[in-house]
Amino acid sequence: MKSTAWANSNIAFIKYWGKKDYEKNIPMNPSISMTLDSNLSTKTTVDFSDDYEKDTFVLNGVVCEDNKLKRVSRFLDIVRKKAGINMRAKVISVNNFPTASGIASSASGFAALATSASKAIGLELDKKQLSTLARYGSGSASRSVYGGFVYWEEESAVQIKGKEHWSEFRDVIIILNEKEKEISSREGMRLTVEKSKLYEDRQKKIKQSLGKVREFLQKKNFPMLAYEIMRDSDSMHACINEAGINYLTEESYKLKKKILALNKEEIIAGYTFDAGPNMHIITLEKYLSVIKEAFSDYKKIISGPGEGIRYTEEHLF
Ligand code: DP6
Repeated sequence: MKSTAWANSNIAFIKYWGKKDYEKNIPMNPSISMTLDSNLSTKTTVDFSDDYEKDTFVLNGVVCEDNKLKRVSRFLDIVRKKAGINMRAKVISVNNFPTASGIASSASGFAALATSASKAIGLELDKKQLSTLARYGSGSASRSVYGGFVYWEEESAVQIKGKEHWSEFRDVIIILNEKEKEISSREGMRLTVEKSKLYEDRQKKIKQSLGKVREFLQKKNFPMLAYEIMRDSDSMHACINEAGINYLTEESYKLKKKILALNKEEIIAGYTFDAGPNMHIITLEKYLSVIKEAFSDYKKIISGPGEGIRYTEEHLF
């Protein structure tokens, strides 16, 4: 009972930060993201068999034990329960980008795992059901099920617009650090909700920000969208800082200033940071040469809007 699926990472324009329900990953607020292209993908093969005595998980060629295996195993328990089947599984997964570097590898990872595991065990789930299932693994994974521009509220995500709506859109990721973050998103969210005073204010204003981002996306108004994206990233990190955590480094702040300097005459770029120091530069194809030149000293991954989950017969084992 084997199946293989691909899923891409995504970058949030309005961030998910805080959970109403920690077990089910129900978010405090809706979020909006763009699913990235296959430059940032996870491919996962899952095989359920009576021959396996326990679950095994290999990520990028490394056999995982402890927390990583536990997280995958717990997720597989949900799939097994849904199917009424108790077989153990072998899971092999490869990312074509650095794991847990603030590039949401859990998003592509759990979207690919939900897709491959559910099919391997014989469940036939539609995209809404896959988005709901992926959410149990990692909240942001619920968005990676869909391609293009995506909205997630409560149980599952929906597509706002397909990737062709704005194919000139780009996310240039400046890689400062490929190491895994020390404080997980889950822990960071918990501390922020508990300790940040600004957080309540962020929650009050987020409906308005979501409306604006939706509108600017629909109208393809790049300058206004870039502004809202930067504002939301700053708002999330201000809350995080109040909880005594800082995912950004000195270098991240330096890069942020570079974007502001580039925008002096015309808005050609925006920045956004997830739970890590690496900067995502939001821009358009026509400005790429300027961005590349300005950040020529840095390691980069360039991505455009990409597709949602897909199955393949090319298994990893
Ligand atoms: C900053 O989806 O990684 O990237 O649900 O605990 O797995 P868990 O968190 P995760 O958090 C993503 C946080 C973010 C913002 C976002 O992608 O919306």
